[in-house]
Amino acid sequence: MVFFKSPFQLDELTFSSNVFCSPLAGCSDLPFRQMVGRYQPGLMFCEMVKMDALVRHDPNTYRILEYDTSMHPIGAQLCGSKPKLAGPCAKIIEELGFDLIDLNCGCPVDKVTKDNSGSGLLKDPDRIGEILSNMIAAVKIPVTVKIRAGWDEESINGPLITQIAEKAGAKIIFVHGRTRKQAYRGPANWDYVKECKDVAKDILVFGNGDIVDPESAEQIFQQTGCDGILLSRGTFGRPWVFEDIMRHFTGQEPLNRTGKEVRDALLTHLDYILRSQQKRKALLDLRRIGSWYLKKGQGVKKIKEIVVRAKDLEEVVAEIQSFDWESMC
Ligand SMILES: Cc1cc2nc3c(=O)[nH]c(=O)nc-3n(C[C@H](O)[C@H](O)[C@H](O)COP(=O)(O)O)c2cc1C
Repeated sequence: MVFFKSPFQLDELTFSSNVFCSPLAGCSDLPFRQMVGRYQPGLMFCEMVKMDALVRHDPNTYRILEYDTSMHPIGAQLCGSKPKLAGPCAKIIEELGFDLIDLNCGCPVDKVTKDNSGSGLLKDPDRIGEILSNMIAAVKIPVTVKIRAGWDEESINGPLITQIAEKAGAKIIFVHGRTRKQAYRGPANWDYVKECKDVAKDILVFGNGDIVDPESAEQIFQQTGCDGILLSRGTFGRPWVFEDIMRHFTGQEPLNRTGKEVRDALLTHLDYILRSQQKRKALLDLRRIGSWYLKKGQGVKKIKEIVVRAKDLEEVVAEIQSFDWESMC
C-alpha cells in the first residue's frame, strides 16, 4: 500500500510528485525555494501573506511573493479572517501567476490569531467555508486549505473542517497533526490526519507534521492512507529530502549525503541569498541557515559560534570553506 505518486495530477496541473514543501514564514523565501527546487518537490509554497497587506499593496508583501518561472508549479498562502477580502486577494494571487492558493488555518501565533486569522479560524469552521467559497468563486486555479487538528485536544474538529472545505470546493486539505495549543511542541499525531482522510470524499488529504525522511514519509502514508504529504522543518538544511523520498519510493539506492555535500549546499544557499539580499541582511540570513546545515558532528559547535558571531561575510565564508566537513558524517 504505497500512495506516493510521480507524477501527481490535480485538475489540469501536473506536479512532479505528491510530496510538497510547506509555506514557512521567515524561511521559505526566494533563496530557500531556489535551494529546495534543485531536489524537485512536487510543489513549493511562498511564505504566508496577510490578506489586509495584499489589498493595501504593501511592497514587502509583494516581495514575499517573488518567484522565478522555473519554480512552477508554485503556491501562495493567504492568511486572514475577513470573507470579504478573500475573493479579491485570491484574484491578485492568480494574476501574479500562481498555480494554487492556500488558506492558512494553522498559524498559532497570538499576533495572528487575535483577529481570528490562522488557527483562530479553527474556532469558526463556518467562516472557513465562507472564506474558501469566496476564494473559489474568484479564481480558476485550485484552492486548498491548511489546518491544524483543532484548537486544543478538547476541540478536535479537523474532520468537520474537512467536510466544510470539501463542500466549499477546496481541492486539498493539508492536515498538521498538532493542535494550536501544542504550537510546535511534542510529536505530531497522525491519527488526526487519518480521521480527516476517513471522512473525505472528493477532497484530497495531505499529511503534515514530523515528516523528515523516507521512513517517516512511508510511515505516514501507511498509517493514514493520505493522498500526499507536506514537509516543513524536515527540509531545513536538508533540501535533498525530496530527492531522498523520491528515490526511496521508486526503488533507487539511497544517496549518502557527505559532509562535503552539506558544505556545498550551504555555500550554494548563501550564494542564492547574496543574489537577492544586501550583504548586511545576507549575514543575518546566513546565521539562520548556517545552524540548519550544521546539525551534528565534531567541531560543529565551534563553527556554529563563528557563523552566529561573524561580522564579516568573507571571513565566515573562509571559515566554512576550511572547516573539516567530513567530520560531520
Ligand atoms: C518557522 C516556521 C514557519 C512556518 N510558517 C508557516 C506558514 O507561513 N504557513 C503555514 O501554513 N504553516 C507554517 N508553519 C507550519 C509548518 O508548515 C508545519 O505545518 C509545521 O511545522 C509542522 O510540520 P513539521 O513538524 O514537519 O515541521 C511554519 C512552521 C515553522 C517552524
